[in-house]
Amino acid sequence: MIGVGGYQIARVRERRRRSNALPPRSALLNVMVGAARKAARGLTRDFGEVERLQVSLKGPANFVSAADRRAEEILRAELSKARSGYGFLGEESGRHEGSDKTHTWIVDPLDGTTNFLHGIPQFAISIALEREGTIVAGVVYNPANDELYMAERGKGAFLNDRRLRVAARTHLTDAVIGCAVPHHGRGDLAQFRRELEAVQDKVAGLRRFGAAALDLAFVAAGRLDAYWERNLSPWDMAAGVLLVREAGGFVTDLDGNDAMLTKGDIIAGNEPIHRDVLALLKAAQ
Ligand code: IPD
Ligand code: CA
Ligand code: CA
Repeated sequence: MIGVGGYQIARVRERRRRSNALPPRSALLNVMVGAARKAARGLTRDFGEVERLQVSLKGPANFVSAADRRAEEILRAELSKARSGYGFLGEESGRHEGSDKTHTWIVDPLDGTTNFLHGIPQFAISIALEREGTIVAGVVYNPANDELYMAERGKGAFLNDRRLRVAARTHLTDAVIGCAVPHHGRGDLAQFRRELEAVQDKVAGLRRFGAAALDLAFVAAGRLDAYWERNLSPWDMAAGVLLVREAGGFVTDLDGNDAMLTKGDIIAGNEPIHRDVLALLKAAQ
């Protein structure tokens, strides 16, 4: 038999269980996840082929750019089937105006192309929905390990069936920070060297994973304490920004403002680490 004390404990446990339980997935997220999973089937097949092509002399480069375009075609077809009037901005096919001027899908069909091309399983499909200038939903899916990140504005962020929270670490000396490294034809090497020098010996570690959407998802999941990058495009960031914010994190451009998607630079993290890394980067200019 359960006494009064036992009854109260049972009620508290039930309340806790309910607050941790996943809310039912909305129709909107179902559409986005369905499109991501459909495009992912092709990418997974192509990734297997890419691993095989590594050893061929011609290499997989042309094959990968076709895989990229095919994935975007599937995403665009699926998303516009479900929401016919919405606009679409995709990395491969550019902007397509819709009859509904208030909604736009922002899509990167394959983020982490260089990883994909080299058979490294750190790549993702990224889909965001913008409503009147605000990102209201985001999905980032890595088919290689079946990690599905989802967020809707005001409703929290999730990795598969787990609610996400940014890391609680408050000291830079404990923090692992994601970044990008300027490469052939991209970025300002001198500026990066100044930033690297400013941050490198203050933190527990720096990482360059090579897929911006997943870098942001890793911040949301508390794996990275912060992440910064320059010269990105809206499709690299749109879904990930919402993931971080819905997981309780901070996201700004590198001036500390909200213009990431137009300026192309970004820093994300929990509140104290975001603040401290941003200060270091500003001082390095
Ligand atoms: C790239 C990745 C990479 C970042 C590049 C992006 P792509 O996107 O997100 O991590 O450093 O700047 O362009 O080309 O693989 O879709
Ligand atoms: Ca990208
Ligand atoms: Ca891409």
